[in-house]
Amino acid sequence: EGSVYAAGVIAKIIREKAEKGEKAVIGMATGSTPKSLYDELVRMHREEGLSFKNVITFNLDEYYPMEADSIHSYHYFMRKILFDKIDIDPKNYHIPDGMVPKDQIKKYAAEYEKMIEDAGGLDLQILGIGQNGHIGFNEPGSPVYSKTRLITLDNNTRIANSADFSTLSDVPRMAITMGINSIMNAREILLMAWGEAKSNAIKKSVEGKPTEELPATLLQHHYN
Ligand code: GLP
Repeated sequence: EGSVYAAGVIAKIIREKAEKGEKAVIGMATGSTPKSLYDELVRMHREEGLSFKNVITFNLDEYYPMEADSIHSYHYFMRKILFDKIDIDPKNYHIPDGMVPKDQIKKYAAEYEKMIEDAGGLDLQILGIGQNGHIGFNEPGSPVYSKTRLITLDNNTRIANSADFSTLSDVPRMAITMGINSIMNAREILLMAWGEAKSNAIKKSVEGKPTEELPATLLQHHYN
């Protein structure tokens, strides 16, 4: 039900923008949480003619280092679950490149921010949440003014995500992620969380004091 609701929010933005001849700019998330949302968008595309021709997307994050073609990459995840099943123009979706040489990441990250800005900014950012309150891969301690950057993953994040890998040591130790500020600049934010494993993080995010120690609490400062 939550995914159907979220898909409805996205579809409304896409259709309203299409009517005006404008692009819809959507921030995408990965993880198990949004899978059912993407399934619903695919269903809407196939059964209701929802077109993604006027849609530009920016994904929150990618592991580092990570080849785009690896089955563990968020590139692969997004193509397989959504992009290859809808009519989005491949040049309109963007996912951080997990293979940028280290000494060029700063420049690359600034370019990623610039691309979002040039597209007109995010109309909507979809988020999941980590059990430690991370959003994107903004781990506890991520500054409120942070932009896209390289980050070291928390050990508990690596453990949580190791289910997708053969062993824990196969989980990358780093990631490129949009920052807290990049997320907060979206005109609307929709965070999805299902199940008891997320209840503690959600309780703190909604009822706790905003703190960089639990990045999702910072969303309390967003107006929409
Ligand atoms: C991952 C992603 C996040 C996601 C979170 C929760 O590490 N970088 O964007 O929200 O962890 O994942 P899941 O939805 O599988 O619980």
